[in-house]
Amino acid sequence: MSISPAQEGVPVIAIDGPGGAGKGTISRLIAERLGWHLLDSGALYRLTALAAAKHEVPLDDEAGLAGVARELDVVFRAEGDATTVLLEGCDATTTIRTEQIGDAASQVAALPAVRQALLQRQRDFRKAPGLVADGRDMGTVVFTDAPLKVFLTASAEERARRRHLQLQEAGVDASLSSLLKEIQARDARDMQRSVAPLKPADDAITLDTTRLTIPEVVDRLTEMLTERGLAPDT
Ligand code: DC
Repeated sequence: MSISPAQEGVPVIAIDGPGGAGKGTISRLIAERLGWHLLDSGALYRLTALAAAKHEVPLDDEAGLAGVARELDVVFRAEGDATTVLLEGCDATTTIRTEQIGDAASQVAALPAVRQALLQRQRDFRKAPGLVADGRDMGTVVFTDAPLKVFLTASAEERARRRHLQLQEAGVDASLSSLLKEIQARDARDMQRSVAPLKPADDAITLDTTRLTIPEVVDRLTEMLTERGLAPDT
């Protein structure tokens, strides 16, 4: 793993787990609480899928997709508690969140050459005072030396319910049963792929969020950081 001298000793909290377990929200809140940087690695896979569609690179062209991932022209612009994502200068914040792009991202993420192409870009997010890294392989591949690794889970039914609520709030009509099926299909693809499959790192702490509120999860993770001397008492 290549770490520059400036990155040495910069703490990382790796937050992995299946989609819909609350990683995105939790990671953002922890990063805000600590004043640390945030890596939404799923967004990079989603952006690769979107850029591929834009440049008409088919989803079975692994070398072409790896090229798209390497050349990805992306800017994450933090504005208050929201982040605007620019792809080739155009706002892609909402487009990358559609089910269609999520599905394409899951296919793109199964390709070893694409994962390799995005590896260093992800590691470059490690900057002082610290990084909260949200993904599927943060603890197992990208930041294997992270001093805190957490695997957030929740039942597929609960994750579908949360996603349904989120879509309803955004004014999008979706059926709960089809969301559950999509979540189960994506879990299976993420867990069964040969490269960087979704699984907890050997030294990860697994936290089931099915019956926990967001503030409860944030408090538990903050406690874990404090116990390890990574965050001041809050
Ligand atoms: O977390 P998300 O739904 O935005 O991720 C989109 C897809 O990318 C999802 O199918 C899993 C995949 N992904 C991955 O393989 N590795 C990561 N570190 C992050 C996401």
